[in-house]
Amino acid sequence: MAVERTLSIIKPDAVAKNVIGEIVSRFEKADLKVVAMKMVHLSDEQAGGFYAEHKERPFFKDLVSFMTSGPVIVQVLEGEDAVAKNRDLMGATNPKDAAAGTIRADFAETIDENAVHGSDSTESAAREVAYFFADDELCPRTR
Ligand code: PPS
Repeated sequence: MAVERTLSIIKPDAVAKNVIGEIVSRFEKADLKVVAMKMVHLSDEQAGGFYAEHKERPFFKDLVSFMTSGPVIVQVLEGEDAVAKNRDLMGATNPKDAAAGTIRADFAETIDENAVHGSDSTESAAREVAYFFADDELCPRTR
């Protein structure tokens, strides 16, 4: 399996619940390493740009409004099969469909406030990582 990088966002609902550490701990226990991390309160422009591919969808305005409602943790995770592994840890988009023990099953209640975002492919990951981080903000984990 290839070592990959993926973008993870801990969304405003999970930050408000004070479960940042519990979520990061799940990534670490699954052998994903944090190679970049910051807390940011997104502007409308930042959130709208990040979700631009969804701008024609009916929930776009609500999604941007939610993602700008409080600070988020944006992080880059590195590890074997990181994109799929992160998606497995997150669980289904709708927490009601999320498997027991996943982040969304444990920390989210509704599809519009679903605790975490994770890149859905290595192509998306490259674009999303570059959206939030400059190359020199990524710290190789050599030990
Ligand atoms: S996914 O996980 O990307 O395949 O899901 P998708 O259905 O394509 O949804 C894209 C993002 O939109 C969010 N979403 C919603 N927000 C508000 N209201 C509704 N009804 C809704 N449905 C989907 C969903 O959480 C995805 O956000 P991210 O941050 O990519 O997980």
